[in-house]
Amino acid sequence: MRLIEISEYDYKSMTLVKPIYDSKKRILLAAGRTIDPKITPKLEAMGIKYLFIEDEVSKGISIEDMLDMPTWKDTIDVMKSFYEQVKTKGKLDVRSIFQIATRLLDEVKFRPTLVLIPSGTVTNELQPFAHAVNVTLLSLLTGKRLGYNDFNMKELAIGSLLHDIGKALTDDQDKHSEVGFNFLREIHQFSLVSAHIAYQHHETINGEGVPRQIKNNEFLEFAQICGAANKYDNFITKQNLPPHEAMEAIMATSDRTYSHRVVNAFSLSVATYPPGTKVLIDKYPAIVTQLNKHLHRPVVKMIANDQEIDLTEYPTYMIEPSNLEKQEV
Ligand SMILES: [Fe+2]
Ligand SMILES: [Fe+2]
Repeated sequence: MRLIEISEYDYKSMTLVKPIYDSKKRILLAAGRTIDPKITPKLEAMGIKYLFIEDEVSKGISIEDMLDMPTWKDTIDVMKSFYEQVKTKGKLDVRSIFQIATRLLDEVKFRPTLVLIPSGTVTNELQPFAHAVNVTLLSLLTGKRLGYNDFNMKELAIGSLLHDIGKALTDDQDKHSEVGFNFLREIHQFSLVSAHIAYQHHETINGEGVPRQIKNNEFLEFAQICGAANKYDNFITKQNLPPHEAMEAIMATSDRTYSHRVVNAFSLSVATYPPGTKVLIDKYPAIVTQLNKHLHRPVVKMIANDQEIDLTEYPTYMIEPSNLEKQEV
């Protein structure tokens, strides 16, 4: 199985592996089928940017490091319900937030690494919730790298899940951090640290962020982690950057935006060449089949001869992103 951009889809050689759902959890397209070329523009219009497919190239690609589908769907559902409860001023199911925080924490804790499912695999309406889930996983991977204890990881998870909750209460983008903070601080089950993550997630360490232009030590490390995770996911989802370019963009602004410690831990925690990515190895096309402990040196399969190479064993081989598909067009 591999994940492709929807523009790469070829109905002659690829079958769909995961069903596509609409926001009411109805199956739009079932797994195991090919997609009629007339339908792909409609999917794109609904916000679907990526598809899970099986083809000749995808054989041997390991997806065991990927977040499992039930967790992905359940956590998105819980986020969607919670946003609705907040918006309609209904009864809040705070417990459901703790439950998914624990579930995501377990995913991160008990796996050597974790590959995210892009927000672009779900329709537009669900993307804000998929974003919250991905930001949380990215934050937790970084917190784990920094040696955070369970209590702090839980605070980080809750704050990251709800970093944009202010958007359920205001349409003013400039106010959502503060509105979110004021909402969260009133819920006694949530810690003040979690509320501050929402308050500070658009701040930067050089005092040029929003809403308060706080600086240095005032900018909590928890919030810096969530800020980096939020920026990274937005680069991928809103600006369509591939993961390695999103990571480069985060690293390029290190020390102006977040502390070196945070950026370094973040870059060591996130796999920028997930399995299925097309790459060039010393200029020869290959595909990533499996991750290694060293996240930036995966196992790859050479396209020309199907040979598998573990890049940790060949430190001189250079890995680069491949834009082959785009050059062929
Ligand atoms: Fe935000
Ligand atoms: Fe966000």
